[in-house]
Amino acid sequence: MGDSQSTRGRLTAGLGKESNFGYSGAMERIEIHRGDITKFPVDAIVNAAANSLLGGGGVDGAIHRAAGPKLLAECRLLGGCRTGEAKITGGHNLLAQHVIHTVGPVWRGGTHGEPELLASCYRESLRIAKEHRLRSIAFPAISCGVFGYPLSEASAIAMGEIRAFLAHGSTLERVLLVCFTAETYEAATASFGNAKKTPVFL
Ligand code: APR
Repeated sequence: MGDSQSTRGRLTAGLGKESNFGYSGAMERIEIHRGDITKFPVDAIVNAAANSLLGGGGVDGAIHRAAGPKLLAECRLLGGCRTGEAKITGGHNLLAQHVIHTVGPVWRGGTHGEPELLASCYRESLRIAKEHRLRSIAFPAISCGVFGYPLSEASAIAMGEIRAFLAHGSTLERVLLVCFTAETYEAATASFGNAKKTPVFL
């Protein structure tokens, strides 16, 4: 997972006035990748989970398969998770040390609090990562699969929350957005304006 396979370090191009607001340090720490999030050796990967935290399809299913049954056993002790909130577990058989489980909103047209709930997923996951003094975290496109959130709107929210969080000081040195599909990757890179696209799948 080298820089040749991501947009790391290329994202400050074309930012214009945003750098005047102290975001330049934040931008250096954000990477956009294509791939399977279970393959990333980071301190924590984020799971787009269900309220029960007892597994499901999509990225949730992939994470539970890769982590093994001890992840489900640990999740059973957590008592579920409200939409927009997040909880942390170990990574078990994953390369990642931790999994931060968050529950995104189901898209119902955008007028049922979906933007604020999705923003909260990113904020809460980042807050927990900071609380645990983690240095790297990888996000999937929360709510953008089964839950139906439009990709471009979701990625704009993700970028806004991540950049704002990093701009206010954090232990996090790397925040990865891991895009499973080409469409997700396009949406994520579009949120950075002129960012160069390098869609290599890991
Ligand atoms: N790595 C990275 N991203 C992945 C992976 C993977 N291995 N597998 C799927 N994705 C992507 C999807 O392409 C989508 O862009 O994750 C994004 C989120 O899709 P879902 O997994 O369907 O999550 P979400 O829309 O938040 O729905 C959550 O689905 O599986 C259930 O238990 C889960 O009920 C919950 C709901």
